[in-house]
Amino acid sequence: MISPSILSCDFTDIKRDFDYMNKAEVDFIHVDVMDGNYVPNISIGPAIVGQLRALTDIPFDVHLMINNPENYIESFAKAGADIISVHPGSTTHLNRTLNSIRSHGIKSGVVLNPAEDLSILEYIIDDIDLLLLMSVNPGFGGQKFIDSTLRKIEKAAQFIKSRSSKCLIEVDGGVNLSNAQELYERGADILVAGSAIFSKPNPYDEMIKFKRIKK
Ligand code: DX5
Ligand code: ZN
Repeated sequence: MISPSILSCDFTDIKRDFDYMNKAEVDFIHVDVMDGNYVPNISIGPAIVGQLRALTDIPFDVHLMINNPENYIESFAKAGADIISVHPGSTTHLNRTLNSIRSHGIKSGVVLNPAEDLSILEYIIDDIDLLLLMSVNPGFGGQKFIDSTLRKIEKAAQFIKSRSSKCLIEVDGGVNLSNAQELYERGADILVAGSAIFSKPNPYDEMIKFKRIKK
C-alpha cells in the first residue's frame, strides 16, 4: 500500500495533487503535522486538514510531530483523520493518548524515530493499529533513507507476527521507487512517499509506478 505525503505537494495547486491521488486510488494520504517544537519545522493544522477532507474519500493517515498531541486528538479526529499516529517522546502518558485516539472511533499509531528502540512495542502492541517507522529524522521531506531501518522493519514484523497482532508497519522518509520493493520484502505494509512523488514532473505517473510494486 502507498500513502503519498502531502508535505511535498504544490500547495498553490493542491486540488491538482488531490485529483492525482483520487485517480491513482492510493491507499492512504499521509498528512504531516509539525509544530516547530517537537520538530524544527511547522506545517499544517486541523483547520487545513478539515478543508482538505472535502477533496477526497481516501483515508487520512495523520502523523503528529507535535508536543502534547493529546490536546489535539479531538480536533484532528473531527477534521477527518482516519488514523492518528504519535511519537512516544511527545506525550507524557502514551497509553492514555492511544486510548483517546481510539475513543474517537479511528485507528491509532505509534511512530519510532530512527534511533528509538522497538522494545516499547511489548507494552503497546495491543493499543496500536499502525507502527510508523521513521527512516529519516522527522521534520523535513527529501532526506536520505537511513539504512539501519531495514533491519528494524524485519524485527518489528517478527514481533508483530509473534503476537498475532494485525498492526500494520508503515515506513516514512527517503522512500523511493528504488528501495520500495526491498521495504516490502523486509515487512513493510505501507510506504509513505513525499518527494519521490510530488517533486517529479508527473506525480500521477509516479503513484502508478509505486502501485505496481507488489509486496
Ligand atoms: C518527515 C515526514 C515525512 C516526509 C517524507 O518528517 O514525516 O512524511 O514527508 O518525505 P520524503 O518522502 O520526501 O522523505
Ligand atoms: Zn510523516
